[in-house]
Amino acid sequence: MEQTKLALADISISPLTIGCWSFGGEDGSYWGAQSQQAVNELVAEALDNGINTFDTAFGYNDGRSEQSLGEALGRRRREAVIINKIPLQTAEQLPGYRQAVEDSLKRLKTDQIDLMLIHWPTRDQDLLRANLEALQSVQANGLVRAVGVSNFGPGALRVAREMGFPVVLNELAYNLMTRAIESEVLPICLENQIGIAAYMPLMQGILTGKYESLADIPPQRRRSIQFDSRLNPDARHGGTGAEAEVLVLLDAMRQISDSSGIPQSILATAWILAKPGVSTVVAGCRSVNQLRENARAVETRLPADVLSALDRASQPLLEKMDGELDLWQSGSASRIW
Ligand SMILES: NC(=O)c1ccc[n+]([C@@H]2O[C@H](COP(=O)([O-])OP(=O)(O)OC[C@H]3O[C@@H](n4cnc5c(N)ncnc54)[C@H](OP(=O)(O)O)[C@@H]3O)[C@@H](O)[C@H]2O)c1
Repeated sequence: MEQTKLALADISISPLTIGCWSFGGEDGSYWGAQSQQAVNELVAEALDNGINTFDTAFGYNDGRSEQSLGEALGRRRREAVIINKIPLQTAEQLPGYRQAVEDSLKRLKTDQIDLMLIHWPTRDQDLLRANLEALQSVQANGLVRAVGVSNFGPGALRVAREMGFPVVLNELAYNLMTRAIESEVLPICLENQIGIAAYMPLMQGILTGKYESLADIPPQRRRSIQFDSRLNPDARHGGTGAEAEVLVLLDAMRQISDSSGIPQSILATAWILAKPGVSTVVAGCRSVNQLRENARAVETRLPADVLSALDRASQPLLEKMDGELDLWQSGSASRIW
């Protein structure tokens, strides 16, 4: 797979990034148990096919995702680009910033992280600035090669830019059900040469067409703002969602898939990469077969009529959810600003 150099760093990434949230999972964790053997096979399959980019976070399975990825990379570490995400540190935690990053390096069995992102911003601008400064200082110390952000909207990006913080990448929710970044965030990233890593391209499998009805979708995958929170104790956004518009999209995707002969999972992922500014899609893959299908998707160029049919099918949902940048918290509770 051909890799692309990020505009603001000497780092080349593949259009498919392997999402490692499930790595190191045990029974009862969000994605359930994931054996080290399965992770080893996925990582080897990815590297053998030029898929060099892996996305993890301190918070994924309490550090076990990082450990599992480090274990699977082993001697092939230098072939990979590791994107890691550090949680926003409180004022009390900030003095331990360097130690927190060194602990992460140990979990990953490496001496440098390629791209370290702040996982979520805060609306407390002083604390945000202090975290951005701390991240820059660990970069200056050589613990990370390049720095970026995740879930940063226009205001938080402005704070970073005003400080001269070099945002190389912004990792954001972006898929056919989640298009709110298109109005403001995506243009800002484009204008400033900030790469976009689009996470949840398949909306946790919902866009692959594998669920016959909304009721078949596991409740934890229906926690997001598109679904009615009154029907789901796992949801915390408190809104009524846009389920009618979700059904319009899913029905249209079925028809577009039938008439074009292109599987729905490929429609979903290839549509994202057709948008300007997207550097990579970050997809969770639970099996080598899913990884192969997602790899095929990032290399598929959809015909113009298929792209515009997908745009039209997702337009009602886009209009209903416009301005909702946070997938799990709505209105004034949104963490993205
Ligand atoms: N920065 C952030 O705040 C943030 C937030 C969320 C996620 N992320 C990152 O984004 C990554 C991806 O997000 P995600 O895993 O939540 O969502 P996703 O990539 O949209 O969905 C992944 C899930 O869909 C199913 N799947 C994958 N490929 C498939 C295929 N070809 N056909 C059918 N089903 C398929 C698998 O689950 P089943 O087989 O169990 O159905 C898989 O676990 C995460 O791993 C993480 O690295 C970042």
